[in-house]
Amino acid sequence: MHSSVPALWWVAILVSSAVPSNSLRGALDRIGRVDSVTKAPLPPPVSPVLPRSLSGGGEAGSPHTLRLKTESAIPVSLLAPVDECDVTVALDNGEAALLYSRSDRYEYTCKQTFTTVDPRANLTVTCQHFRLKFNCFFESLTIEVDGKASTYCMDDKVGQFQGRNVSLSFERNFMGFNGGYVCTVSCQGPPSALISEDPGCPTCGVTVAMESRQSKTADERIVGGVSTVKGAFPWMAHLRITARPSMQYMCGGSLITDTHILSAAHCFEYDVQYIDVTLGMVDTRIVLAGDLVRMQATDFTVHAKYDSDNIYNDIAVVKLPRAVTFTDVIRPICLPTSADTMEGAVATATGWGTLSFGGEEAQVLQKVDLDVWSNTMCSSVWSRKYMTIASTQVCALGDGKDTCSGDSGGPLAVQVDGKYVQLGITSYGQGCATPGVPGVYTRVSSYMTWIKAHVEGYCQGGGAERK
Ligand code: ARG
Repeated sequence: MHSSVPALWWVAILVSSAVPSNSLRGALDRIGRVDSVTKAPLPPPVSPVLPRSLSGGGEAGSPHTLRLKTESAIPVSLLAPVDECDVTVALDNGEAALLYSRSDRYEYTCKQTFTTVDPRANLTVTCQHFRLKFNCFFESLTIEVDGKASTYCMDDKVGQFQGRNVSLSFERNFMGFNGGYVCTVSCQGPPSALISEDPGCPTCGVTVAMESRQSKTADERIVGGVSTVKGAFPWMAHLRITARPSMQYMCGGSLITDTHILSAAHCFEYDVQYIDVTLGMVDTRIVLAGDLVRMQATDFTVHAKYDSDNIYNDIAVVKLPRAVTFTDVIRPICLPTSADTMEGAVATATGWGTLSFGGEEAQVLQKVDLDVWSNTMCSSVWSRKYMTIASTQVCALGDGKDTCSGDSGGPLAVQVDGKYVQLGITSYGQGCATPGVPGVYTRVSSYMTWIKAHVEGYCQGGGAERK
C-alpha cells in the first residue's frame, strides 16, 4: 500500500499538467499549489516501446498503463488532485478527484464535497492509503455519503462507498501528528441505455441526434468536408500507430463491437508496435475529457491475402485490450447485411486526414458526403492508371470532395432505415479530390464472412443483425 503513494503522485502530476475538464478546472484554478505542480518537468507523454511479449495480452502487466489501485476498477479518464478545502466540486462522468492529507505536522481541518454533473451518475469513494495517528481525537477522517457519516482513524479499514453526494472531512487537532490518507472520488455515468434496449445485441449505427430526431450535425466545414460535433459519428476511432523503427502515423477506424475496430490493412504494413486508440473524440487538441476513451492496443488481424500491389483485401481488425462501455459519444456502426452495391447513393466519409493533398491534418473530425460510383465507371477511370478495381471495392467522389491521407481505415457510411451502415473502408486514391478520379474503398459487404471469423462474439442489434 505504501508503495502506491509515490505512484499516485506521479499520476497526479501527469494529469494536472494536461487540460482539465471544466468542472475540475474550476477547483484547480483556485489552488495555488497546482500551479507549481503544473510547471514541473513532465514525464514523457509517449509510452515506452515494449517488446510485443511484454505489452501484449492484458494491460495489467504493462508498465505504460497507469492504474490506480482501487478494489474494483472504475474507468477513469481524468484524475486530478483537489487540495483546496471547503470546496464543492462537481465531477463529470469518467472524472475522478484525488484527495490527500497535508504532509506537514500542523493542525487543520478540511472539508471537500463532491456532487455529479450528470444527475444519473454515481460517486465512488475509495481510500488507497489510510493511516492516521494516535486516536480519533487527534486525527480523523469523516466520510459522509448521502447524509450518512462514518468517522475513521488510526488503521481503520475504510471501505468503498457509493452515493450521489459525498464529502470528506479531515481533522488534525494536535500539532505534531502527521498521519495521512490518499482517497479518490470517482464519477461514473449510468450504464448505457443502448445495451438494455436490445437484449440480444447492442444497437448499431444510431447517434443520439438520430434517436432524438434532431438529426442535425452542425455543419461548419478530409478535403471539401465540414467539421463534425461530438456524438455525430460515435463509432469513429482515431488510431495513432507506432511502428518500428520510430515511425508514427495516423489512421481511422470504426467501432463495430465493444472490443473491435475495423480498419485498413495498409495501416499495418509496417512493423507495428502498438496502436493508440481514441474513442469518443472530435477535437484532437482536447486530450483529456471525461467521455474520451484511450487505450493502447497491440492485438490486430490483417487480412491474410492483403495485396499491397493491387491494394486488394485492404481490411484489418484491431482488438481493444478491454471492452468499452457505449455512451452518447461511443457507439458501434452497423455492418451491411446485404450485398447492395449502393451505386448512386450518397455516402459519408469521416476522418482526421489532411484537408488537402500534402496539407495539414484536421484537428476536428471532418465529414464529407460523396457519390457512390458504379464499379464499371470506376474501373474505366482507374484502368488508365493501371489499377484494376475488383468487386470487393467501392468507389466514391464528390465535387472537390474526397478522403485524403490519414483518413485511411476510416468508414464510408450510408444511411439505411435510419441507421448508419458501413459501406467502405478508406483505402486509396490519386492525390486527393482529383477531378474525375474517385477514391477507392474496401467494400465491407464482401468481407462479412472474414469479419465474423475474426471478431469473436460479433453481434449487432437494432435491426441490422437481429436474430
Ligand atoms: N491511403 C490513404 C491513407 O493512408 C487514404 C487515401 C485516400 N485518398 C483518396 N484520395 N481518396 O490515409
